[in-house]
Amino acid sequence: MDAPWWQRAVFYQIYPRSFASARGRPTGDLAGIEQRLDHLDWLGVDAVWLSPFYPSPMADFGYDVSDHCDVDPLFGDLGTFDRLLASCHARGLKLLVDLVPNHTSDQHAWFRAARSSRDDPQRDWYVWRDGVPGTPPNNWVAAFTGGPAWTWDDATGQWYLHQFLPQQPDLNFANPEVVEAVHGIMRFWLDRGVDGFRIDVAHGIGKDPALPDDPPESAGMPHSALNDTVETHELLRGMRKVADSYPGDRLILGEVFLLSTERVATYYGNGDELHLSFNFPPLFAPWDASRWRRQIDDATHHIVDRFGGWPTWVLSNHDNVRHRTRYGGSEARARAAVFLLLGLAGSPVLYAGEELGLEDAVIPEERRVDPGGRDGCRAPIPWDGTRDHGWGVEDAWLPWPPEADARNVAALRDDTGSILHLYQRLLAARRATTALQTGALERLDAVEGAAPGVVAWRRWDDAGAVVVVVNMGEAALVDVEGTVLVASDGMGEGEAFGGVLGADRAVLIAAR
Ligand code: GLC
Repeated sequence: MDAPWWQRAVFYQIYPRSFASARGRPTGDLAGIEQRLDHLDWLGVDAVWLSPFYPSPMADFGYDVSDHCDVDPLFGDLGTFDRLLASCHARGLKLLVDLVPNHTSDQHAWFRAARSSRDDPQRDWYVWRDGVPGTPPNNWVAAFTGGPAWTWDDATGQWYLHQFLPQQPDLNFANPEVVEAVHGIMRFWLDRGVDGFRIDVAHGIGKDPALPDDPPESAGMPHSALNDTVETHELLRGMRKVADSYPGDRLILGEVFLLSTERVATYYGNGDELHLSFNFPPLFAPWDASRWRRQIDDATHHIVDRFGGWPTWVLSNHDNVRHRTRYGGSEARARAAVFLLLGLAGSPVLYAGEELGLEDAVIPEERRVDPGGRDGCRAPIPWDGTRDHGWGVEDAWLPWPPEADARNVAALRDDTGSILHLYQRLLAARRATTALQTGALERLDAVEGAAPGVVAWRRWDDAGAVVVVVNMGEAALVDVEGTVLVASDGMGEGEAFGGVLGADRAVLIAAR
C-alpha cells in the first residue's frame, strides 16, 4: 500500500500573527498568508499547520480560544479562511488547523456558564474541586506563572483547574458531553475541508480522577509537562475515529510535551491514537553528535520498532528559542541542521522563518508581551528590505528579527548561495528521492567511530540509497563514496564527495 501523504510530507508551521499582513496592520492575517503562498510553493513544502486564528482574548495569543468554530476579526472571517484553504488545495498544499481541546478561554460561553453557578448544567464541563482559599487541591504547577494550577472562584466557592494561565481553564473530558463537543469542533473543520489537526497539549486532556500530587522530584515542573495518564489514550482513540471517518487520510498530529521519547511513543497507541506526534527531546538536544545519535536511536527504537509509529522532526516552533540561536547563532550550524530535519526518517515540521536562518529577535523590556517569555521566536517575517519589510506598517506587533534589512525573503531569493536556496535545494532533493521520504534508516557506526563529531546515516529503498553526514565537531575525514547532491555550504554539488567535511558542515550524498 502507498504511504499516506503525511508520511511523505514536509510540514511548515505558520504563526498567523507573525507571518504576513494583507491589511497593513501590525499583526498578520489569513489573507496575508494567502498572498504569500507563492513562497511556500517555491520552497517546496507540502503541508501547512496554522497556529490558532480563532476568536480569543489573546491572553495566550490565541491558545485561549473563546469560540472554536469561528475566526477572530483580527485574522479575517470564515470566508477568508475558506479562500485560504481553497488556495492551498489549488496548489496541492494540505492544511492543518490547530485544535485546542485541553482548555478554553475563561471568556468562552462554556466557562462563563460553568462559572455562573454550581448548579449550571455546564458546571461539570470544567474541573472544579472543593476546598478553602489558600490551599489548592493538589501541588500541580501551572505553566508560565509557576504558581498553582488552580484558581479559587470566590463567587461559587470552589477551585478550578488550569494547566496554563488562569484565563485557560481545563475542560473536563471525564464528562461525555465535553468529548462530544470536541468531536463537534473537529467535524466543523473537517466538513470545511481541512486535512487534519495539530492537537495542542494532546497528552494533557485526560486526568487521573484522583488528581494525585506530582512527585516531589518534579517539583516546580509545570503539570502540563508531566500529565501522562491512561484516560488520555481512550480520548485520543475517539478523536482518531472522528478523523478516520472522513475520506482523504485526515491527520491528527499531537503535541505530546513529555520529555521522554519512550513515553511519547505510547501516544501512537496500537495504530489507533495519534498518526503523528511531536517528540521534543531532539528539539532540546544540544549541537553534539553523541546526543544526536541517541535521539535518532530513541526515535527508531521507541517510536518505530516498539509502536510501529512514524516519527516527526522539529527544531523550532512558536514556543521555543529558534534553533539557530540555540546552537550559538552560527549560520553554518543552522544550514547543517536542515540535513537532520529533512534527512532523518519521519515527517519534518519546519517553522516559518527558519528557511531565512532567522535568529530570535531581541525584545526590549517594554515590548515584551508573552506571559511565557516566547516573544523572540515570534518576531514577524521580513518579506523584503524596505522599511516596513512588506507589512505596510513600520512597527509590527513585535520587533523585527536581527538583520531584517539583509535577511529577508526577497534578498535571499536573489542570492543563490543563501540558506533559503539551501532549504529549497534540499526540499527538492527530498521530493526527488523516495529513499529520503520513506526509506529505511541505518546509522553508519563505522563512519561515526572514525569521526566522533559526526552523525551519519544511510537511507535506502528499492529505487536507491543516499547517505547524510552532519559534522557537529571539528573538520573530519569521512569515509563515504558517492556524488554530492546537496552540501550545506553549496560546495562540490554534483561532484564526487572528496572525503573531508568541515566543522558544522553537512552533505547529502547519492551513495555508490
Ligand atoms: C501549547 C502551545 C503553546 C500554548 C500552550 C497552551 O504548548 O504550543 O503555545 O501556550 O499549548 O495552549
